[in-house]
Amino acid sequence: VAAATQSSPLMGFEPVAASTEDAFIVPKGYKAERLISWGDALFGSVPEFSDSDNNAQAQAGQFGDNNDGMSFFAIDDNNAILAVNNEYCNYELMFPHQGDNMSAEDVKYAQAAHGVSVLTLKKDNGRWQLVKDGKYNRRIDANTPMAISGPASGHALLKTAADAKGEQALGTFNNCANGMTPWGTYLTCEENFHGYFGHTGNGEIPAAMARYGISAEGGRWQWHQHDARFDLAENPNEPNRFGWIVEIDPHNPESMPVKRTALGRFKHENAELVVADSGHLVVYMGDDERGEHLYRFVSKGKYNSDDMAANRNLLDEGTLYVAKFYEGEGGELKGKGEWLELSFGKNGLTPENGFASQAEVLIHARLAATQVGGTTMDRPEWVAAHPSEPVVFCTLTNNKNRGIKDNQPADGPNPRAENHYGQIVRWRPENGQHTAAGFDWDLFVLAGNPTVHQGNLYAGSANITADNMFNSPDGIGFDKGGRLWIQTDGNYSNSGDFAGQGNNQMLCADPDTGEIRRFLTGPVACEITGLAFTPDQRTLFVGVQHPGEKLAKSHFPFGGNRTPRSSVMVITREDGGVIGA
Ligand code: FEO
Ligand code: CA
Ligand code: CA
Ligand code: CA
Repeated sequence: VAAATQSSPLMGFEPVAASTEDAFIVPKGYKAERLISWGDALFGSVPEFSDSDNNAQAQAGQFGDNNDGMSFFAIDDNNAILAVNNEYCNYELMFPHQGDNMSAEDVKYAQAAHGVSVLTLKKDNGRWQLVKDGKYNRRIDANTPMAISGPASGHALLKTAADAKGEQALGTFNNCANGMTPWGTYLTCEENFHGYFGHTGNGEIPAAMARYGISAEGGRWQWHQHDARFDLAENPNEPNRFGWIVEIDPHNPESMPVKRTALGRFKHENAELVVADSGHLVVYMGDDERGEHLYRFVSKGKYNSDDMAANRNLLDEGTLYVAKFYEGEGGELKGKGEWLELSFGKNGLTPENGFASQAEVLIHARLAATQVGGTTMDRPEWVAAHPSEPVVFCTLTNNKNRGIKDNQPADGPNPRAENHYGQIVRWRPENGQHTAAGFDWDLFVLAGNPTVHQGNLYAGSANITADNMFNSPDGIGFDKGGRLWIQTDGNYSNSGDFAGQGNNQMLCADPDTGEIRRFLTGPVACEITGLAFTPDQRTLFVGVQHPGEKLAKSHFPFGGNRTPRSSVMVITREDGGVIGA
């Protein structure tokens, strides 16, 4: 057993073996129960999910599909709110036609399955459970009205026929990961918004939109065929109203969500917030696409811990930066880096280069990042800051284009060509200040497969063994004790380069010793994504996303012949102890 040679003072559980079972497997002495699954009713007036005829009307009051990032808001010891992203849906599981014959009604159903679910939780007999009709229960979906605030609000590029002022959008979708502010609000991050749009007239797509992947034919969602809002022939600016971070007050179900444009527009993964020593709020953000960038926002105002209401618009004003990593000396996998400012009028962000205002810099943040020379990364996914030390981690999940495309040389923190294993980069801000201009980086782990590759970087770094190997790190987060939790969204073929790695999984790492231990394994064809701890660290919520995708053989979590359904799991210890310890 791997544990015999491991000695991290932070981790006290026995590692779980890689698995290809259609099951959610936790360490000995732990238990895992289901909190909620796609389609579970949040309200008594709404039908429970039906394997055969679920529909838009029911879905509007049910838990959304493909749960992803989530945050836990404690009310008191026994009452809480869990805000959960519902990233997308699987047409192959949702419709008998598997998405090949979408109708307007089907599109409505899909739109209702996206967005965010806010859940009222109660602890009963030591176990957290959903309160049906609980006072915080809310569905936010692809049609929920939301305000657009910050420097880009009201800009011409955000104006549409339905919103002549460019100040109010409808909905949020492809909500990937999340963030939580110290003033008690939830941040949901819009990721792959491009595939929902198309152009029924096959019109030309402006280069600034093409950079975000918008195409005339559209993606698999086909919303533009049935809902004119998503048809660029009718609404050419609608895509500019997506790709933002949205702030939601989960304590007030009547509140209007707000898109915070100061944080920039890209394919947002998560939003990791840190209150800097100076009092400024720092938000670290990844843009998950091959060769895209890592960003940082620093608020203009300071966080006021005595007056929560005073912080409400802290995310509307500040400075956005993109990361530039410099190669280590002699090819060492560590080096220096700096944050390049994305402010109108600076670093070439001028009208001559196509930027007429700060609003345009933010709406076209990717173009701005290229203009100033940000480093192209191997798909920056989640960022996590250590709870007590000035050190930050970001998963770079994989990148088949590395070393192939001209703008993506294999170097610096992205050292492997055709990188299908992924790595986690770590940086320490200069002088321990999150607001500093520079940082020192190194690689915390290079995922790999030491049973297939030896003597090169594809074997993985020294902290990867046959017992803990994985690929495509994605979700990460620290607990209060300083354990780093790592979730995977990788290749689950368990063969070839991925032999012995099994289904997607969650691991625990000691950031000081570098030790990594597998904590759980998920069911067939799932991704493990989303994590939230209770303040006492004795309950951990973990997301199982899209078990049985592409019609892989899963019936998780209900078994039998049931439709597989994304679910949030609740993990506790049989002895009631701290998770991971
Ligand atoms: Fe929704 Fe980049 O994962
Ligand atoms: Ca992800
Ligand atoms: Ca991913
Ligand atoms: Ca996913």
